[in-house]
Amino acid sequence: MTTLKTSYMGLELKNPLIVGASSLTGKVENLKAIEEAGAGAIVFKSLFEEQIQLEELELENELEQYNERHAEMIRLFPLLKHAGPAEHLSKLKKAKELLSIPIIASLNAMHPDTWEEYAVAIAETGVDALELNFYTTPKNFEVEGKTIIQSQQETLERVKKTVKIPVSVKLSPFYTNPLDVIRRFDSTEIDGIVLFNRLFQPDINIDKEELVQSITLSEQTDMQLPLRFVGLVFGNIAADLCANTGILSGSDAIKMILAGASAFQIVSALYKNGIGFIPKILSEMEAWMQEKGYKSIDEFKGKLAKKNVHDPFAYQRAQYVDILLRSNDIIVHKMP
Ligand SMILES: Cc1cc2nc3c(=O)[nH]c(=O)nc-3n(C[C@H](O)[C@H](O)[C@H](O)COP(=O)(O)O)c2cc1C
Repeated sequence: MTTLKTSYMGLELKNPLIVGASSLTGKVENLKAIEEAGAGAIVFKSLFEEQIQLEELELENELEQYNERHAEMIRLFPLLKHAGPAEHLSKLKKAKELLSIPIIASLNAMHPDTWEEYAVAIAETGVDALELNFYTTPKNFEVEGKTIIQSQQETLERVKKTVKIPVSVKLSPFYTNPLDVIRRFDSTEIDGIVLFNRLFQPDINIDKEELVQSITLSEQTDMQLPLRFVGLVFGNIAADLCANTGILSGSDAIKMILAGASAFQIVSALYKNGIGFIPKILSEMEAWMQEKGYKSIDEFKGKLAKKNVHDPFAYQRAQYVDILLRSNDIIVHKMP
């Protein structure tokens, strides 16, 4: 009998499909539907420290506007302050009570102390694991890349030492050498590495001549970057690999597992097709496994990782040169 069971950062999952952190997973009412559709696990929407700080600042400013009444308001409503992370933590607790599949919390903090502080509070909600979302974009010219990497490594060391639940890190691909960063982070004994987050990028409206912040969903070709790194990393680190970005079908998921992923996360696929798309991905995977005669995920996990492919150039630059040489065969459509 075919089974999709997998183990990801010490969690036994009934299948490798994890619904990634997003607004979809921030609503408790969606979680049950995701579980019923058959997902193996869920990453709850990230707790963003920056957002909490902004909301606190807004509340302060609002209260300032009522300066003369400020003291009176505080006397009448002594609890009048921003809820901080309390609301998020209570949603996590509720989610944990509601679900029988594993629930993974996600955190994006700003300072080494707060990463640790929030991680402890999150672990106390009873969630099964914690994903540290290292979502950041460079903001100034002065900070060296190695300073950022060192600080991220320290954060991982501190969190991993403090909390008892499994910890993973979700990375962006924007490091000079992601392989070095992944190995350094793996040395902190974290349990999983998610490759990669897809950052929202700004756009420009040329009619209004202004910047636009838009949410774009992944396209299928976006999966090729994480595929390359999953394939390069598999077998070289102790942490489990979770593939993310651009996985829009069962065949995309199979490719990631062949490259070496223990599990994969999807978000855009569900925004595009709805939660009801989950069983379609799973049945596509099962059908492929049956056709190929695989009984379990472990039988083909990493089969096409660099380590297991007897082509010394697989996944490397020479492959790129080869593709360029073959590019003469590409048919260019003539412009009308
Ligand atoms: C609307 C939306 C909200 C998201 N919120 C989060 C979040 O809170 N935390 C996080 O780590 N990633 C967040 N992401 C990123 C996704 O988890 C995922 O990494 C990314 O969309 C790539 O996966 P996909 O190609 O399956 O969409 C969000 C993505 C979308 C589209």
